Amino acid sequence: MVKSLCLVLLTFVPLLWFARESDGMPDPARRDLLMREEVSRQTGGLLTLTAAEQKLDTCLHRLKEQEMAATLFPPAEHFFKAKLLIEKSPIYKLLQKMPKGAALHVHSSSLVSAEWLVKNVTYRPHCYICFTWDNSVRFLFSNRQPFPRWDCFYWQLLESLRARIEDNAGFDNSLIQHLTLFTEDPDGEYPNQDVVWEKFEKAFIAAAGLITHAPILRDYIYQGLEELHKDNIMYLELRSGLSRTYELDGTIHDKVWTLKMFQEVTSKFKQNHPEFFGARIIISVHR
Ligand SMILES: *[C@@H]1O[C@H](CO)[C@@H](O)[C@H](O)[C@H]1NC(C)=O
Repeated sequence: MVKSLCLVLLTFVPLLWFARESDGMPDPARRDLLMREEVSRQTGGLLTLTAAEQKLDTCLHRLKEQEMAATLFPPAEHFFKAKLLIEKSPIYKLLQKMPKGAALHVHSSSLVSAEWLVKNVTYRPHCYICFTWDNSVRFLFSNRQPFPRWDCFYWQLLESLRARIEDNAGFDNSLIQHLTLFTEDPDGEYPNQDVVWEKFEKAFIAAAGLITHAPILRDYIYQGLEELHKDNIMYLELRSGLSRTYELDGTIHDKVWTLKMFQEVTSKFKQNHPEFFGARIIISVHR
């Protein structure tokens, strides 16, 4: 009883005092002080900017205001529409150049851009393609005509196919579409979660034929590090299930081979870019 009376007094007496002092209105000066105190407790809140940093800060602030005033504000758009705006954004270009610590959650099967896979990897010799009945594609590197599989009856050498096709740029774009979710009309093409998940899975299955070819995986990892380095990323943690890889003649390498290769490629990359800290693999499973 005494205890709860104390509590009531402790709660109400200061409140009454505060109400009397400000006639029920919060004191704007106190509010200001509180806000400033809170800001000072944020990360870097006690840091004083140098003159050059202040200049950059002002410039960044101006750029932000410009982007917020534009008719199309990227954060308010669907990502597929915003992506083009982001790529053109001066703020994004500035952030790209700034040094970053680490990329801590990158999946090995989506480490490198689909553009590189199509424009570089699928142009290499011995690359076969097959169009599946469910509107997907499979790739396979082989030194002879691959055997039909349950999902793939007819393998065509990409080099010969491209020689017969007139619109190669259009064809390459259609391949890129198979490897990404990107579309001009996301709402129409992906009416629900199931549809988009299915396309997502198919894209990885399609890319697997390219990425699990041993010599490609070697270049792929290097290219991935290169692309991250261009964004000034210093360290990578790569999630990977460590897939087995194959050679042109069908020889299979085990997971240990992949791990060793990763180590080799990373140290070669570090030799060429001594400021890069390094990379690690986090073994993960498909979920
Ligand atoms: C493809 O990538 C490799 C590196 O992995 C590079 O040496 C080669 O020049 C690239 N080829 C083309 C056509 O871009």
